[in-house]
Amino acid sequence: MGTVQLPPAELVAVVNTSLIVISGVCLALGYVFIRRKRIAQHRAAMLGATTFAGLFLVVYVTRFFLYAPKLFAGEGAVRVIYLAILITHTILAVAVGPLALLTLRRALRGEYQLHRRIARITLPVWLYVAVSGWTIYAMLHAF
Ligand code: HEM
Repeated sequence: MGTVQLPPAELVAVVNTSLIVISGVCLALGYVFIRRKRIAQHRAAMLGATTFAGLFLVVYVTRFFLYAPKLFAGEGAVRVIYLAILITHTILAVAVGPLALLTLRRALRGEYQLHRRIARITLPVWLYVAVSGWTIYAMLHAF
């Protein structure tokens, strides 16, 4: 039995971050569409955002088990900022899963008023998680 060759950690990190960037772009587009009352495009963009977020999660969890984590090397104030972003990102990332599923469920059942009410919470939380995720990636690689 030969050993299985894993793709380089850097490549997997780039793929992973790209998935969440695409998801974030779909999310922002979805918002623009619904503001313009283009429901079919809103639906497609939001289903796309959910699909890419799901793919991101699969790669993320796989990475967690197969690769050593990259540790933050910055010190002082920048480390405090990094940790603040990391902690808020992690807590909200856990919350956004159930929030997104509930938002989606209400939309797909045609409960649009209820959908809209929860979506106004889900959308900013989701966007924060996406943007802080890219920030963490950028900070990890800059220091
Ligand atoms: C998890 C994914 C989704 C998110 C984050 C989301 C987000 C939003 C947001 C923020 C609004 C309110 C816009 C405003 O304040 O003017 C909204 C409204 C709406 N969404 Fe979604 N949406 C999602 C999925 C869907 C899907 C799959 C559909 C299917 C058709 C849909 C249909 C609608 C409709 C019809 C409205 C207008 C509701 C109204 O004004 O009464 N959404 N959505």
